[in-house]
Amino acid sequence: MERLAGRVAVVTGAGSGIGLATARRLRAEGASVVCVDVDEDSGKAAAAEVAGEFVACDVTDEAAVRDLFDGVAARHGRVDVAFNNAGISPPDDDSILVTGLEAWERVLRVNTTSVYLCCKYAIPHMQRQGKGSIINTASFVALMGAATSQIAYTASKGGVLALSRELGVQFAREGIRVNALCPGPVATPMLMELFAKDPERAARRLVHVPMGRFAQPEEIAAAVAFLASDDASFVTASQFVVDGGITGAYVTPL
Ligand SMILES: NC(=O)c1ccc[n+]([C@@H]2O[C@H](COP(=O)([O-])OP(=O)(O)OC[C@H]3O[C@@H](n4cnc5c(N)ncnc54)[C@H](O)[C@@H]3O)[C@@H](O)[C@H]2O)c1
Repeated sequence: MERLAGRVAVVTGAGSGIGLATARRLRAEGASVVCVDVDEDSGKAAAAEVAGEFVACDVTDEAAVRDLFDGVAARHGRVDVAFNNAGISPPDDDSILVTGLEAWERVLRVNTTSVYLCCKYAIPHMQRQGKGSIINTASFVALMGAATSQIAYTASKGGVLALSRELGVQFAREGIRVNALCPGPVATPMLMELFAKDPERAARRLVHVPMGRFAQPEEIAAAVAFLASDDASFVTASQFVVDGGITGAYVTPL
């Protein structure tokens, strides 16, 4: 189904993981995809694969983000979809007792300030069109607490959730939908490598997932494609949970 034929979609963090799977899926749905990443090699490879455009951009840089969306609008005539997805989860973000202010500020800047900037510079184009869909990547940790803390990451995703909800409400009557995507843990190569080295750590997490497994990036991409498309025409200001049942679980099956 080509639900996005003729649409222009911007994907940040398109070089890897959820962003890459989503660039592929949006292309398969007929969109022209602008692949954005700070990592030039992976971003270019993603763009080549989806026959799209690559824009090198650090999403924490205000001038670069403004140029990104203004440039896409100038070159393609429109900005229909913004998937604001780039994010980090660095090892020096841990318990509040050991996480320093530098790590805290870095994570907040990449994960939350970037979403503020991308929305700020995408929305005026969507206002002109009278239509647009913004999907901001939050996380299930925006909804639940964990004893295995990454305190800055959790706070950063809570911020993404709250700002997405408010923007969804503010711009609802202008045809702009804004949703926060809350994925559960995804089986990215990095996570799988970490858990292969430490099976006890993996088991400690999997016990909380009713489905008993992590998500594939393609399963998250499918949700983004839905939110991007007119099939989601009455969905805005939502916390769109794609988590294998984690947030609904008290006790999980053996
Ligand atoms: N993987 C998971 O289990 C999981 C679960 C919930 C939410 N998320 C969120 O999903 C999003 C994508 O995660 P992923 O697992 O695909 O990560 P990933 O590390 O595989 O990909 C992230 C991409 O973002 C890019 N990036 C990082 N900082 C950037 C910056 N300043 N400017 C531009 N690009 C930048 C990286 O180069 C990379 O290509 C993140 O926001 C993450 O927090 C991931």
